[in-house]
Amino acid sequence: MKTITFGNTGEQVSEICLGTMMFGNTCDQAESDRILSAALDADLTFVDTAAMYGDGGTEDLLGKIIGDRRDKIFLATKVHKGIDGESITTSIDESLLRLQTDRVDLYLIHWPKVGMDPEEVMQALHTVVTAGKARYIGCSNYPAWLFAHSNAIATKNGWTPLVNNQIPYNLVERGIEVEVLPQAAAENIAITVYRPLLMGVLSGKYRPGAAMPDGSRGVDDTRIGAWLSRFGDGVDGFLSMAEELGTHPAALATAWVKQSPGITCPIVGVSSLKQLEKSLAAATLELSAEQHDRLTGLFEAAAVQEECGGAFGPLRRERALLG
Ligand SMILES: NC(=O)c1ccc[n+]([C@@H]2O[C@H](COP(=O)([O-])OP(=O)(O)OC[C@H]3O[C@@H](n4cnc5c(N)ncnc54)[C@H](OP(=O)(O)O)[C@@H]3O)[C@@H](O)[C@H]2O)c1
Repeated sequence: MKTITFGNTGEQVSEICLGTMMFGNTCDQAESDRILSAALDADLTFVDTAAMYGDGGTEDLLGKIIGDRRDKIFLATKVHKGIDGESITTSIDESLLRLQTDRVDLYLIHWPKVGMDPEEVMQALHTVVTAGKARYIGCSNYPAWLFAHSNAIATKNGWTPLVNNQIPYNLVERGIEVEVLPQAAAENIAITVYRPLLMGVLSGKYRPGAAMPDGSRGVDDTRIGAWLSRFGDGVDGFLSMAEELGTHPAALATAWVKQSPGITCPIVGVSSLKQLEKSLAAATLELSAEQHDRLTGLFEAAAVQEECGGAFGPLRRERALLG
């Protein structure tokens, strides 16, 4: 696995990040350990987690299985629910305890919130960095304007800037092409992508019109059925193209994200070691520009701003965000 420079930090991280949202959820501690070990064996050293996953349970499990491998990992976690100053400083301490480490490499705001105070958020994140509890800070699900606004506050006060935005992006959800990716290119912001398989819709396990497979996320999450109904033709075409190229759909969808302009790295979310092995094939799958364009053209998914981060869009909501 190759490494990639993480935005403007100069840090080298693996070009694919391991997502751990399913650790302690659909995969138990033993399987999570097997997944982490296989990832490290493949030189995948960038690991993403969050205090919110399993309400701390995933961090707790990760802390147990990382053990003496902590220094091999570029570890990112995210603030729990509250994003006022006190919640941020309390949340990092709780995360470090669960993760059994004295610092994370990257600390992210998980979701912006209506009524948040960006100055208070940036000051608290700066405190976390100066206390040595995080090396870098970033955010997730921020629209471009909020990222720029937050960093203008940091610059004015001499505080630590955000270096990363973690955001959904895949063949269907392409809203970040409007503002987030141009901003990232202009300012060398690291863009890490969650949901590269559209929650499994692009993994080959779902067929438009067919029943949801037992044990899959499609059984409980109605978004999966809705995407399959809306983009059934695209999914069919995508699965045919994977077959034509002799590759697994999970590798193809991940490679499309990885090779899209402005993207730093995809975050692969897996429920089993078997799934990880398929997704890791994206590391060596080189798509031609023609193949990349063909894939993009399979889905009638306009890159509209409203899709950015899912939480923002209509201007009135963005106004409300800052009270
Ligand atoms: N910042 C945020 O707000 C945010 C939000 C969500 C996720 N994340 C991060 O991003 C990571 C990835 O997100 P995601 O899980 O939504 O990504 P995803 O890649 O779109 O979906 C992953 C799901 O696809 C299915 N899958 C993966 N590989 C497969 C394979 N080879 N064969 C069959 N099915 C396969 C699995 O579904 P089943 O479990 O049904 O088998 C898996 O849970 C998470 O782990 C987390 O670290 C961040």
